Amino acid sequence: MSQNKKYSPIGVFDSGFGGLTILKEIRKVLPDYDYLFLGDNARAPYGSRSFDIVYRFTLQAVKYLFDQGCQLVILACNTASAKALRTIQQNDLPHIDPSRRVLGVIRPTVEKIGEISKTGSVGIFGTPGTIQSESYNIEIAKLHPGFTTSGHACPMWVPLIENKESDNPGADYFVEKDINQLLAMDNRIDTVILGCTHYPLLLKKIEKYMPHHIAVIEQGPIVAESLKDYLIRHDDMEARLTKGATCTYLTTESAEKFGDLASIFLGETIHPRHIDL
Ligand code: DGL
Repeated sequence: MSQNKKYSPIGVFDSGFGGLTILKEIRKVLPDYDYLFLGDNARAPYGSRSFDIVYRFTLQAVKYLFDQGCQLVILACNTASAKALRTIQQNDLPHIDPSRRVLGVIRPTVEKIGEISKTGSVGIFGTPGTIQSESYNIEIAKLHPGFTTSGHACPMWVPLIENKESDNPGADYFVEKDINQLLAMDNRIDTVILGCTHYPLLLKKIEKYMPHHIAVIEQGPIVAESLKDYLIRHDDMEARLTKGATCTYLTTESAEKFGDLASIFLGETIHPRHIDL
């Protein structure tokens, strides 16, 4: 970091642990930047909350990250991307600071599936909020006219993950049932998007029940490549970010509780801090 440059990490926000699946991949591709992760674990899951509440909670988190010096914030949460991103970009950013940016995870994922699906039939797993918003259907129809999108909500998956049940037999029941329900919607589905950043934590179970000819799409690597590309195209933003290769973790839950599960998942011991929004 240059002497006179103020700490300016890339902010990464999620309702809980799920955003770590995105952050982990971003740091592999862009290891030099500083990162500030915020998980609103005390108020997770967001998936079954109303539009207005998800928007209010997300805006609070974005403002908090801006106050810590973030010039750029990634909403590493599909529910927040579906329900809050557009309003924040269009209505709030112009007042808060038009030079800062907030980016989501839905658009880059949808851009990518055009290269992957051969049948043009795509399945989406997401939280009830993401599926009800029809954000994926709308984006896919815009970018890939002619594609058919089938969305299925999995209300039990995030609670299973947040309660450390992902590797237990209870998870098998719900994963198998939800896969069967999605595939029954369209027998041409050849690509399934894990449209919730928590879901890669259930990947072992998902692969166990998903027919092998179907591609299961995780968002982490896609979002990481898309951010890399964004920073190449926006050198003004790139120049404002600091490169101390640090990563700081904040949670609205107890730091100890967050650190426990996050450390296991990330494969390194982390020392999160509790904050109040
Ligand atoms: N990880 C989030 C997502 O990508 C939301 C999970 C939740 O809080 O329900 O949708």
